[in-house]
Amino acid sequence: MRAESPVVVVANRLPVDRVTDPDGTTRWQRSPGGLVTALEPFVAGRGGAWVGWSGDAGQAPEPFESGGMSLIPVELSEEEVDRYYEGMSNASLWPLYHDVVEKPEYHRTWWDTYVQVNKRFADRAAEVAGEGAIVWVHDYQLQLVPAMLRQRRPDLTIGFFLHIPFPPYELFTQLPWRSAIVEGLLGADLVGFQMPSAASNFVQLARRLHDLPTRKEFIQYDGRTVTARAFPISIDAEAFDGLASSPEVVSRAAEIRKELGDPDRIILGVDRLDYTKGIAVRLNALQELLEDGVVEAPSTVFVQVATPSRERVEHYVHMRETIEQQVGHINGIFGTLGGPAVHYINQSVPREELVALYRAADVMLVTPYRDGMNLVAKEYVAARGDLGGALVLSEFAGAAAELKQAFLVNPHDIAGLKAQLLRALRVEPEESAKRMRAMRRHLFKNDLDHWASSFFAALKAQA
Ligand code: ADP
Ligand code: G6P
Repeated sequence: MRAESPVVVVANRLPVDRVTDPDGTTRWQRSPGGLVTALEPFVAGRGGAWVGWSGDAGQAPEPFESGGMSLIPVELSEEEVDRYYEGMSNASLWPLYHDVVEKPEYHRTWWDTYVQVNKRFADRAAEVAGEGAIVWVHDYQLQLVPAMLRQRRPDLTIGFFLHIPFPPYELFTQLPWRSAIVEGLLGADLVGFQMPSAASNFVQLARRLHDLPTRKEFIQYDGRTVTARAFPISIDAEAFDGLASSPEVVSRAAEIRKELGDPDRIILGVDRLDYTKGIAVRLNALQELLEDGVVEAPSTVFVQVATPSRERVEHYVHMRETIEQQVGHINGIFGTLGGPAVHYINQSVPREELVALYRAADVMLVTPYRDGMNLVAKEYVAARGDLGGALVLSEFAGAAAELKQAFLVNPHDIAGLKAQLLRALRVEPEESAKRMRAMRRHLFKNDLDHWASSFFAALKAQA
């Protein structure tokens, strides 16, 4: 593999998934995620490289070319998947960074493996990066990579972006390896966060924990200036808008309403099945509204699409059971023959179907306890070129700082959530159109390309 890539992306996952065709042959298919869409233009066509894990344990495939990029698979053994990915990343850091919604577990073996795997990612990136290249490292799984990479390759310009929240000093400092993580991130020239408050949490840590000189968003470290700044991530709003207004999607949206029994109101939730997303609290609110008799089923239905995620991590196993029980309970009491109150789909759905669901939903319920951004909220707004639909959005999602005309809720306040959900269900079309128009205006100005270009521009300015 060539050692001259001028741009290198380093992320836990590769931008492709391995799929098996009916005849048994396997091939790589571009992942549907937004990150790939955002970064591909900057990496592809310039001989850029993407270093990441394929998602399977065991021997990694040889590097290969795809979509104009060199893809460099990083190998993870079964034990590394268990300790680095499921353990340290998703049972320690994920809950710690999301306000300790679940209790993080800390194990020294997990940490040792996290260090070992971060080294491997840094090694691969150091091998493929050309002289003076720009390297962009992503997310909480790889927070040690910036410093490891700088040690190996001082000629590089290194950026890091954290896609999830960054906790305040009081929470972060419970991490037994807090200093190592801060030092790892300080290896970058530019550390990007979703929110200004997260950037300032990081600056504060550098000052209080490491006694480093700081001024506004700048940290003096090791003879360099490290910048910590917010770059709120977004979506390809135009692409969602175009797809959502295509005749196929519009007619599929009408068909979905019919398949659901032509209800007056469709409420929708779309999430990875994750305890940070507040799926249970939505179901509680709906159940109480049904019990109070102010909402009736099946003239109002709730569709929850929840992609299975991190299924071997204990917190996830428990939450799935809880939600399945709740759905069963609500349907047992309020459903009719052939007319459930809650339609629960524990699957990933194709993009066209997802957008048709957005288009069909009168109310979109997005209620995380804490979320770095929440792209689903932005996708819903982008899909509503008809100016229909109402968005109920948690104040604790990064998206709430931008989508200010949503029906904002505190997911810890069930009475408040019920009241806002009712308002959204009963809103006059003129008012909801006004809200939607304002949110769309913001979204189309601040789209995915704007995010990636501003991060790259800020990073290049540091080179
Ligand atoms: P997170 O990154 O924590 O999963 P986001 O809301 O920021 O949360 O991003 C989730 C992405 O996954 C969105 O692009 C959304 O469209 C997609 N997604 C979520 N659930 C599903 C599903 N059931 N089927 C297909 N795509 C989904
Ligand atoms: C969040 C994280 C990403 C992660 C994604 C899916 O968006 O910020 O880093 O890739 O969830 O989770 P998974 O564990 O399946 O990669």
